[in-house]
Amino acid sequence: MMRVTMRQLQVFEAVARLRSYSRAADEIHVAQPTVSKQIRLLHEEIGLPLIELIGKKVFLTQAGEELYATCSAWLDSWGRFEQTIADLKGLKQGRLSIAAVTTTKYFMPRMLGPFCSQYPGIDISLEVVNRDRLLERMAQNQDDLYVMGIPPEDISTQSEPFLENPLVVLAPQFHPLVAKRNIQFSEVAHEQFILREHGSGTRLAVEKVFEERGFPLRVKMELGSNEAIKQAVAGGLGLSVLSKSTLNLDATQRDIAILDVDGFPIKRYWYLVRPRDKQLSVVAKTFMEFLKQHIDLLNPYGSR
Ligand code: PGA
Repeated sequence: MMRVTMRQLQVFEAVARLRSYSRAADEIHVAQPTVSKQIRLLHEEIGLPLIELIGKKVFLTQAGEELYATCSAWLDSWGRFEQTIADLKGLKQGRLSIAAVTTTKYFMPRMLGPFCSQYPGIDISLEVVNRDRLLERMAQNQDDLYVMGIPPEDISTQSEPFLENPLVVLAPQFHPLVAKRNIQFSEVAHEQFILREHGSGTRLAVEKVFEERGFPLRVKMELGSNEAIKQAVAGGLGLSVLSKSTLNLDATQRDIAILDVDGFPIKRYWYLVRPRDKQLSVVAKTFMEFLKQHIDLLNPYGSR
């Protein structure tokens, strides 16, 4: 049986992942000679070279690659073990990683403040990305929970709606249709639209609406930010369809209006999504419960 220490494996994993002795030393808060010493001891114990230094570059040998894969799997299950122990002790502490789509920035951060004050032992990382990036993160099992408007259709995930996410048609305040009631969809459909980028959930939903109603979508401009779109609408570049969550009490709000279009607002929901076979930690369950109980902290515009 090899006599390898957990410390040596931790040092090796960091060097292999970061491909650098100095960055590994920084990450695990030790001096660089300590890293070199641990790696040397590991080489001796295993009896084969694991790392080759060419110039200053770190390369893994075949044995190194094998050990790196073993270490990653080990660290992963060790992390789960630590979380299980915290769970068994009934401690509401640990790390919670959430990935949420771009448009949730209007309510998710607002939710985290009260949650963190109630559970100071929980550290949260919130990754805000568009729907396509979020699906990639989900495929790589990078987070505990996901928040999105259009959950994936496959059966490997479990989704729960928790808040309404209506889609509204926006126009500049000076647009002639602002004063009109019960506008027919055909009246707005021929206008130029400013839309979110491909890969966005909002974009997907808008394309579906136009397709279902049989109108071509005239895209004047696409922008990767809801804020930029609101500015462009206020400036008269065109109309847009966005989630009502994007309507915050900011300066642009005075310059844009929601049109009263037949069939709108389109009723949609925000969903909490998680991989079906993933064992949720107590921390993740605590967050889900908190979200449901404090839904009134969200969306002051009463779109629920
Ligand atoms: P998006 O998703 O921010 O990627 O557009 C929002 C939604 O699906 O409602």
